[in-house]
Amino acid sequence: MTKAVPVIAIDGPGGSGKGTIGLLVAKELKFHFLDSGALYRLVGLAARHHGIAADNEEALTVLAGHMDVAFAAGKTGEPRVYLEGEDVTNDIRTDEVSQLASQVAAFPRVRAALFDRQRAFAKSPGLVADGRDMGTVVFPDADVKIFLTASAETRAERRFKQLQSMGSGASIGDLLTSIRDRDERDRNRPVAPLRPADDAIEIDSSHLNIDQVLQRVLEVVRNRLSAEPVSGQR
Ligand code: DC
Repeated sequence: MTKAVPVIAIDGPGGSGKGTIGLLVAKELKFHFLDSGALYRLVGLAARHHGIAADNEEALTVLAGHMDVAFAAGKTGEPRVYLEGEDVTNDIRTDEVSQLASQVAAFPRVRAALFDRQRAFAKSPGLVADGRDMGTVVFPDADVKIFLTASAETRAERRFKQLQSMGSGASIGDLLTSIRDRDERDRNRPVAPLRPADDAIEIDSSHLNIDQVLQRVLEVVRNRLSAEPVSGQR
């Protein structure tokens, strides 16, 4: 398990803003970006495409190890996700796929099958990795670990606004229930549960705007990266 480039792990529950912040940090530092949640979502979507049940760990593990996925920048530099050559950027964000992703993510062998794919994102000049277990399991050697939180109510409200801007509707109550269900499953699963690494810095974004969170994260990152030699180069 070698890692010769700086890695910044940003973990937290769904809707805490880690995806948005992670992308902005990666852009600012000109680092690569790993949206690990997208990989679990892709397993969920691929399972649906191939008629594989969400409780069939054996088949889901094969799928996780072999599915043909690609990440590329779109016309305006936005991240796009491909499954078997098809652009599924929007398809993996539906509530149905969110729940499927959280279900398949509870299987240890599915997680193991995605481990090397995730580690392979650590390339020069560096990586920002966003997920639930980046700082605890996939990159325990990360140079910077951030745990981003926000109250369930704030996260439901953010999701509501995001859906509204996409022209879809949902009730805040349903979104809150869905967020709580997912939190419960992600936090209480026996393997790689959602929790801050012992050496993570926690930031609660409930009452901060995106720019305030970004500045706080960049401050932490710059302090850490300038203070420490990059692991693997020590
Ligand atoms: O970050 P996200 O909402 O796109 O993640 C979707 C699901 O994938 C989430 O409910 C839990 C799972 N996940 C995980 O178990 N480990 C990760 N590193 C990232 C996501």
